[in-house]
Amino acid sequence: MITIIGAGKVGGSAALHSAIKQLDDQILLLDIAEGLPQGEAMDLNHLLSEQGIDVEISGSNNYEDMKGSDIVVVVAGAGRKPGMTRMDLLKINAGVVKDVVGNIKKYADNSLIIPVTNPLDPMAYITYKTSGFERNRVFGMGGMLDLSRFKQFIHEATEEDELNRSSRKVIDAIVIGEHGENMLPLTRFAQISGKPLPTIFSQEKLDEIFTKTKNVAAEVIKLKGATVHAPGNAISSMIQSIVEDKKQVMPVSTYLDGEYGYSDVTIGVPAVIGKNGVEKINELDLNQDEKEWFDKGVNSVKSALAGIDI
Ligand code: 2OP
Repeated sequence: MITIIGAGKVGGSAALHSAIKQLDDQILLLDIAEGLPQGEAMDLNHLLSEQGIDVEISGSNNYEDMKGSDIVVVVAGAGRKPGMTRMDLLKINAGVVKDVVGNIKKYADNSLIIPVTNPLDPMAYITYKTSGFERNRVFGMGGMLDLSRFKQFIHEATEEDELNRSSRKVIDAIVIGEHGENMLPLTRFAQISGKPLPTIFSQEKLDEIFTKTKNVAAEVIKLKGATVHAPGNAISSMIQSIVEDKKQVMPVSTYLDGEYGYSDVTIGVPAVIGKNGVEKINELDLNQDEKEWFDKGVNSVKSALAGIDI
């Protein structure tokens, strides 16, 4: 069973994408708000019936119903409002996440946990520490979402360039670092059909793609109040790599123990995601500039955590 804790827009979207991809035959939406997970489950089941998809979605306010879950996604907590950074949610969501993780330990002690609540990297750290789970079993969704945006801006740049116009399918890229103000879309490592991005676009264009990737979530939130579909899909892609044991390399926020020169911090790095969760962390050879961005992200996460009682 897949359990999604938090039945708001992102939780509902994650359930929808996971059901359409048939990643499990049972998906549970859990929320403390009475009626919300039940209503969301009904609405989604109606859609699945019309589509002839045999996945049952249920809604509950009772943590006990998550007993035996294989994968638990944590979306619970306050969302980012227009004008807020992800870090502005730190104090309020730390308490929510600690409480949720206590229940995961109680009812789904063998699960893999995917934290999604913002600020993502500190929440992944709190989840890892308070769960006591092995580090391969806790990995946050942030980088996959940043990557969706990075790929879209690369795609848009190719659209403006007659000779390099390309399908989305052939874009290969990675975003690492903090899921926040210091995220690191690695333009130097991105490729279109094997051609490195810096051989296609000017430095000015690369900088523009970098900055837009970093800032676009705030723009979406300003325009429509929340980001919904891209996060829901990104969660389901991570679940898919687990349940199908695809061993896809994905950026996830996981606990570092010496990788990239850091320990005791949780931040976005490329990792092989399979049935055991994080099966391997890939270390990229970063240049001086990239290292500086990565370091800024690590420092931001560490200083946020310093103010929290874990
Ligand atoms: C996002 O990037 C708000 O972290 C959320 O869409």
